[in-house]
Amino acid sequence: MNRRSFLWLATSLTAVGFISTKEGRAQPQMAGGLYYTHDFPGRWKGKEAGHVPKIEILKNKGKAQIQVMTAHEMKGCEHYIVKHIVLDKNYRFLDEHLFNPEKDQVPVSRFALGNYTGQVYVLSVCNKHDTWLNHTLI
Ligand SMILES: [Fe+2]
Repeated sequence: MNRRSFLWLATSLTAVGFISTKEGRAQPQMAGGLYYTHDFPGRWKGKEAGHVPKIEILKNKGKAQIQVMTAHEMKGCEHYIVKHIVLDKNYRFLDEHLFNPEKDQVPVSRFALGNYTGQVYVLSVCNKHDTWLNHTLI
C-alpha cells in the first residue's frame, strides 16, 4: 500500500467511526469532531437531560416532519442552544435551524423531510457544552 492509498483509507475510516471507551463500548464519532450522547456524555456527564435533543415525529399531509426540542435554557448570549442540525442515515446534511439567543425563548425547531424514510440523526449544539446527538427512525 502506497502512502496516498494509506492516507485515503485512514481518512475514510475516520469519517464515520467509533472510539472505544474504557468500558469497551463504542462512542460515536463523525467527521469533524466528537458528539456526545445520552449514553456517552463524556466530560459533560450529568448534563444529558438538558442537551440531548428530543425528536418527535409528526406527519403533515402524509409527509414526514420532525419536531426537535432541547430542554435547555436560552439565557441570552451567555448560555444557549446555537442550532439543531438534521442528518440522513449516511450522516449527510439535510437541514438546520439557527436560534437567535436574543429572541428565541425555547430551542424548538421543525423540519419537513418530505418522503424521506429511514434513520434520522439530530445534533443539538450548545455554546458551552458542545454537540449532542440523538436519532430516530421515520
Ligand atoms: Fe449547555
